[in-house]
Amino acid sequence: MKLPVLIIGAGGHAAVVADALLAAGERVLGFTNTDTARHDRVVCGLHVLGDDRVLDAHTPDTLTLANGLGGVGSVAARLTMQQRLQARGWRFVDVRHPAALVSRFARVHDGAQLLAASVVQAGAEVGEGCIVNTAAVVEHDVTLGGWVHVAPRALVCGDVAIGARSHIGAGAIVRQGIRLGEETVVGAGAVVVRDFAGGGLLIGVPAYPVEHDL
Ligand SMILES: CC(C)(COP(=O)(O)OP(=O)(O)OC[C@H]1O[C@@H](n2cnc3c(N)ncnc32)[C@H](O)[C@@H]1OP(=O)(O)O)[C@@H](O)C(=O)NCCC(=O)NCCS
Repeated sequence: MKLPVLIIGAGGHAAVVADALLAAGERVLGFTNTDTARHDRVVCGLHVLGDDRVLDAHTPDTLTLANGLGGVGSVAARLTMQQRLQARGWRFVDVRHPAALVSRFARVHDGAQLLAASVVQAGAEVGEGCIVNTAAVVEHDVTLGGWVHVAPRALVCGDVAIGARSHIGAGAIVRQGIRLGEETVVGAGAVVVRDFAGGGLLIGVPAYPVEHDL
């Protein structure tokens, strides 16, 4: 029998994750949040139950977790939180909205989150912990390294390879065949038309690198 799910985090991304899990028929207990100001709130009809100490009343045999931390531009918070809890024996569920279109010829690694109206095409590989957010498209033969976030409505064209922990901003386009290094941040609406091996921030049409303090 499937275990109930507790969502870590209670912000906007957590709400989207809750909605996807509920739509997929999962039993969601609620949320945790380190910010006490959010406790007792109701999100998607579910309560924010408290901070991490909520876990003390459960064991990994009776409960699984979902990563509800989003993070625009940096995956540090969602990555370190998940690694910390996994080290304590907790397991994180895969999240797949029933309205995500995922090719049976795609390979999706553990803990990936494929949200409403996202598309993952044939031959694509979605790394561990990735988010393919609302209406984002990951085309054929794309490789997403671990913990990549493809933000809402971004389009990653065929044969692209994106390094681990990168962020492809909302509505951005990455042209076919492009290679992006680890920890690249592509600004919202940018169009990437050449390779960038060194990570860093890219904005504009066509995309160009800028210092982080824009
Ligand atoms: C590129 C980005 C990371 C920069 O963030 P930031 O450092 O906080 O930048 P600011 O908002 O302070 O803007 C600084 C300057 O950059 C410009 N700028 C910001 N984002 C830009 C973008 N995507 N494209 C072009 N210019 C941008 C601003 O107009 C501003 O210009 P100015 O100094 O001439 O007024 C951010 O704007 C972005 O696009 N993030 C991705 C958003 C996303 O994917 N959201 C989905 C969440 S699920």
